[in-house]
Amino acid sequence: MTDYPVNTDLIPEVKAFFEPDSNTISYVVKDPTSDACAVIDSVMDIDYAAGRISHEHADEIIAYIKAEGLKLEWLIETHVHADHLSGAPYIQEQLGGKIGIGSQITVVQDVFGKVFNEGTEFQRDGSQFDALFEDGDTYKIGNMDVFAMHTPGHTPACMVHVIGNAGFVGDTLFMPDGGSARADFPGGDAGILYDSIQKVLALPDETRLFMCHDYGPNGRDIQWETTVADEKEHNIHVGAGKTREEFVKFRTERDAQLDMPRLIIPSLQVNMRAGEMPPADEDGKTFLKVPVNAL
Ligand SMILES: [Fe+2]
Repeated sequence: MTDYPVNTDLIPEVKAFFEPDSNTISYVVKDPTSDACAVIDSVMDIDYAAGRISHEHADEIIAYIKAEGLKLEWLIETHVHADHLSGAPYIQEQLGGKIGIGSQITVVQDVFGKVFNEGTEFQRDGSQFDALFEDGDTYKIGNMDVFAMHTPGHTPACMVHVIGNAGFVGDTLFMPDGGSARADFPGGDAGILYDSIQKVLALPDETRLFMCHDYGPNGRDIQWETTVADEKEHNIHVGAGKTREEFVKFRTERDAQLDMPRLIIPSLQVNMRAGEMPPADEDGKTFLKVPVNAL
């Protein structure tokens, strides 16, 4: 296993923004020793039935960053989301910063480039993003050192970004009573997801973990923060020493019963382009496709 540069003495300031339509949590992570910050997993609003996009959620984040006088350095996507559209380019346009994602985005682009029958103008080399991270890569937010852990299984490009004592787990884990994300999308794999979760659970027990999603199981209020120790002990899918075999059997059976996420079709077309819409046609109009019987 890669030897990651863990430093739990560094305690970043974390502000969460819950987006109720897709149950996504976006984060602004601030360096305690400077004005530098990063946005993790932002959302662009869509009324899919009407084909209308808007930016209320991203505007809330932008207003916060401006009000706090912060300097945005990074817009991180933990993975290619299948249930919401990224707001990263909209935020970048107004505040700057670099958009980064895992280098295996090229695999996702290849798979869904075919599903959506994209032409050769759709590059499958990740070049729509400003940075592509490999396992163990490090970068800075102000004076904070960050490292990225490759955590495939939910999707091939999933990464967990660890900033001091805070880990942003994307869809690798849910809150302990939520378990884990599905592993049945193209390129997903339940066994590989189990292995990736073990990498996260090998971080120090006191590491704070921040979820990308929470659905408030059993009627509880929405939550997004837990610890490695809590997940190890209480996670209903992988905690208390569940074996890889147990997890794969459970995850595979469960996934077979799940419907496709409501926004998977628009989400993938936009997010595989780093949050940009497909190019406009010759009349300047923008369209999203619906591939029939392809998913
Ligand atoms: Fe996801």
